[in-house]
Amino acid sequence: ADERVATTIDKVCAVIPDYPEPGIIFRDLTPLFADGAALREVVDALLRRFEGQFDVVAGVEARGFLLASAAAYAAGVGVLPVRKEGKLPRETYAESYQLEYGTATLEIHRDDIPAGARVLVLDDILATGGTLGAAVKLVERAGLHVAGIGVVMELEGLAGRSNLTGHEVSALYTV
Ligand code: PRP
Repeated sequence: ADERVATTIDKVCAVIPDYPEPGIIFRDLTPLFADGAALREVVDALLRRFEGQFDVVAGVEARGFLLASAAAYAAGVGVLPVRKEGKLPRETYAESYQLEYGTATLEIHRDDIPAGARVLVLDDILATGGTLGAAVKLVERAGLHVAGIGVVMELEGLAGRSNLTGHEVSALYTV
C-alpha cells in the first residue's frame, strides 16, 4: 500500500522547473487535491500510520488545511488550524521561523483544544522544516502532545527533519 501511494503521488504531482525562480523545481500538489481517488488514498495512508494515536488533527495554513480537514472528518475528530499571523481573533500562541528572506509567524488559539490532547500535525510538504517546526512548538506550548507529523512529500536535501527531532515524521513520498 505504501508503494502504491508513492506511485500515485509521483503520477499526479506536477513538477515545474524554474518556478518561482530559475533553478528551483516547484512541486505542485493541486492535481493531487483535485483527484478524488488520489486524495483519498493519500489521506488514508497518512491516517493508517497514526491510527489510534491522536485525538485531533492540526493543519498548517494553507495547504495543510486541505489534508487536515479531510483526515479529521475521516477519523471523526476535530481540526486545529495553525494559522498565519493576524488571522485569529482570540488569545494566541505565536512562533516565528526563518524564511529564505526574513521570517514568518504562525499562531494557534490558546484554548480551542483541551490540554493533554494528542495532536497529529499534517502539511503537504516538508522542505526546510521551519513551518512544521513552528507548528510543533505551538502545539506543545498549548499543553498538547504531538502524536506525530505527517506530510505527503519530503524534500530530503533540505534536512527539514532536523527541525523536528524527537517526533515521529512520516512522509508518503521523498524526493
Ligand atoms: C509551503 C508548504 C509548507 C511549507 C514547507 O507553505 O505548504 O507549509 O511551505 O516549507 P518549509 O518546510 O521550508 O517551512 P507556504 O508557506 O508556501 O504557504 P501556503 O501553503 O499558504 O502556500
